[in-house]
Amino acid sequence: MPDRLQVLSGDITRLAVDAIVNAANESLLGGGGVDGAIHRAAGPELLAYCRTLGGCPTGEAKITPGFSLPSKHVIHTVGPVWHEGNQGEAQLLGLCYRNCFRLARKHGLRSIAIPAISCGVYGYPREAAARIAVAECRSALADNPDLERILLVAFDESMAKVLRQAISAV
Ligand code: APR
Repeated sequence: MPDRLQVLSGDITRLAVDAIVNAANESLLGGGGVDGAIHRAAGPELLAYCRTLGGCPTGEAKITPGFSLPSKHVIHTVGPVWHEGNQGEAQLLGLCYRNCFRLARKHGLRSIAIPAISCGVYGYPREAAARIAVAECRSALADNPDLERILLVAFDESMAKVLRQAISAV
C-alpha cells in the first residue's frame, strides 16, 4: 500500500499524471496559491471552461481538461476555510478528498496528484489536514484497485515532513 501512496515535494503543475487536484474557491474562477499556479500553467482555456461550470460548493469537486498542463485533467475541489474547527471543517475536508476520488473512479483515472488542500490561505492546521488526507487516500486505494498511484504534493519541505509523518503514523 505505501508505494501506491507517496509524498512529493514540488510544483504540482509540472506533474504528468492523469489528474492534478486544484485547491480552488467556490467561484472556480482562479485565485492565488496553487489555484493561480494551475491556471497560469493550464492557460486561458481553463478559465474559459471553468466559467461554464457555475462554481462549486465547498467539499464538492468538478473535473476539467488539463489544457496546457502536463496532466490530462484537473479536479477542482473547494476546501473549507479553517474557523477553529467548530464549523464542520474536518468533515468538509474529508468530503473534498472523497469527491476527488469519486471523480477519479468515474473517469477511470489511474494516477492523481493532490496538494495540501486548505493548508494555505484557508488556514487549516497542517497536521490535522495531513491525517485526513492520508486516511482518505488509504480508503480510496483500498476501494479502487484501478487507482495505481496517489501523490500527495507538498510545496515546501516542512509540509512534506508533516505528510510523511502522517503516513508513517498508522
Ligand atoms: N504546487 C503544489 N502545491 C502548491 C503550489 C504548487 N504550485 N502552490 C501552492 N501550493 C500549496 C501551498 O503551499 C499550500 O500548502 O498548496 C497548499 C494549499 O494552499 P492554497 O493554494 O493557499 O489553497 P487553500 O489553502 O486551499 O486556499 C484556497 O486560495 O488561491 C486561493 O483561489 C484559491 O480562494 C482559494 C484559496
